[in-house]
Amino acid sequence: MREHWDEQAEEYAKGREFSGVDERVIQLIELKPKNRLLEIGVGSGITAEKILDKCDNINYFGLDLSVNFLKATKNRLRDNISYISADAAYPPFKAAAFDLILEMNSIHHFPKDIIPKVILDIAGLLKTGGRYISVEDWGAPVKDEREKLAHEMQKNRSSVMDGLEYHPTDEQWIEHFKNSSLKVIHLEHIVRPLNLNYYKNERDDLLQQRVRKLEELWEGEQPESTMSIFICEKL
Ligand SMILES: C[S@@+](CC[C@H](N)C(=O)[O-])C[C@H]1O[C@@H](n2cnc3c(N)ncnc32)[C@H](O)[C@@H]1O
Repeated sequence: MREHWDEQAEEYAKGREFSGVDERVIQLIELKPKNRLLEIGVGSGITAEKILDKCDNINYFGLDLSVNFLKATKNRLRDNISYISADAAYPPFKAAAFDLILEMNSIHHFPKDIIPKVILDIAGLLKTGGRYISVEDWGAPVKDEREKLAHEMQKNRSSVMDGLEYHPTDEQWIEHFKNSSLKVIHLEHIVRPLNLNYYKNERDDLLQQRVRKLEELWEGEQPESTMSIFICEKL
């Protein structure tokens, strides 16, 4: 897996733009000076940069499996955060070390079987009353034909078929959180642009037919999909 993410890092970092989802996550974050924040799968550090602008004097820890992603973050953030090169399945911290843990589109890349353990470990790293913010896609209820088609496309992506991505529903995420003493205190849905290039690179003919149909349904507009933002409190 490390090699996979190391290969992806440069292109992902180039294409990863600051979005309305990042903006909303930043609005939802409340931290005091000296608070400790851990971001799991910090990626290119694009969200971290703006969180640091908003929250003065916090201790930010960016963890990632990929050394190349951490390099991209370091280019952006220099010495403003601590870089942790580790697998989130084995987080190298003491219990109750953090006030806030954030993950955006990272946990769903972990093998399905280890997700309950990873969430349990995340809960263990939080202080009582601490917050876990999780931003995930493909979990929200499908509300129209366009979303139904986009979900079918996503289910047939090779990374999903090969078990490299796992997308529980919102209810299933909530169940995982509950089993780890994490109470969901806020859940909201927010749309983000859906990058069809990820699907256009796939070889599957049926998937390509669906991509064309989705473009028709969006009538030349930028296709979107819905993300879920969960805020959990550690009990
Ligand atoms: C889709 S990217 C999202 C990056 C960033 N959160 C963002 O919103 O742009 C997934 C990130 O999770 C990291 N990742 C994947 N598996 C991981 C693991 N087991 N432990 C830590 N990081 C992991 C990848 O290296 C990558 O940076």
